[in-house]
Amino acid sequence: MIVAIDGPAGAGKSTVARRLAERLGFRYLDTGAMYRAVTWLAMQRSFDLSDGEKLGRLATDNPVEFDDAGRVSIAGYDVTASIREARIDRQVPVVAAHPAVRQVMRERQRELGEHGDVVIEGRDIGTVVAPNAEVKVYLNADAATRARRREAERPDIAGDALVTDLRRRDERDAPRLQPADDAEQIDTTVLEVDDVVSRIEDLVQQRLAASRP
Ligand code: DC
Repeated sequence: MIVAIDGPAGAGKSTVARRLAERLGFRYLDTGAMYRAVTWLAMQRSFDLSDGEKLGRLATDNPVEFDDAGRVSIAGYDVTASIREARIDRQVPVVAAHPAVRQVMRERQRELGEHGDVVIEGRDIGTVVAPNAEVKVYLNADAATRARRREAERPDIAGDALVTDLRRRDERDAPRLQPADDAEQIDTTVLEVDDVVSRIEDLVQQRLAASRP
């Protein structure tokens, strides 16, 4: 079974998706980490981030890897921590906007999601990567709450800069941020993580019950 979790930055996707995967015993795939890793490598090599074709080739030649502990690597580098830096936050939407990059990443995401039960988190999972996902969820929260959550994850950046970064990222990510028609939309503004996880777990159990003969 595939559980697709989409939504904007700070909506709670990672925390929810990780905990849900743990509870269900499913694998967890963080597709944002994949765009971040390619962005990291492109910056490390001082690539022109407006050259989509070149970035697409870079992504093809350097598949992102995840180990069982959730560590992320690319081109032999462990980038688990460095892909969460603010400089990556700022540039990743530029890289992720190139169709050539998205094509490579989506193919790889489908490969990684192919076997067994998995929770996949991103922006276009329910719409493009896995339109046949059995359960689709779109998480959202109000802008102030999303900025506050990001602030807790990025102690190195001042609050004002974070709000601006988040707004810019929202604008740039907007074309890819469409809930699937059949996604369950959950506003996480006033919900606890465990409540969100339980709601999605219920959807999974309903789907499992419906598919039993
Ligand atoms: O979820 P995140 O903040 O780690 O995502 C990083 C960036 O990657 C974000 O700006 C949007 C982009 N992204 C995307 O375009 N498609 C996805 N499936 C996942 C992330």
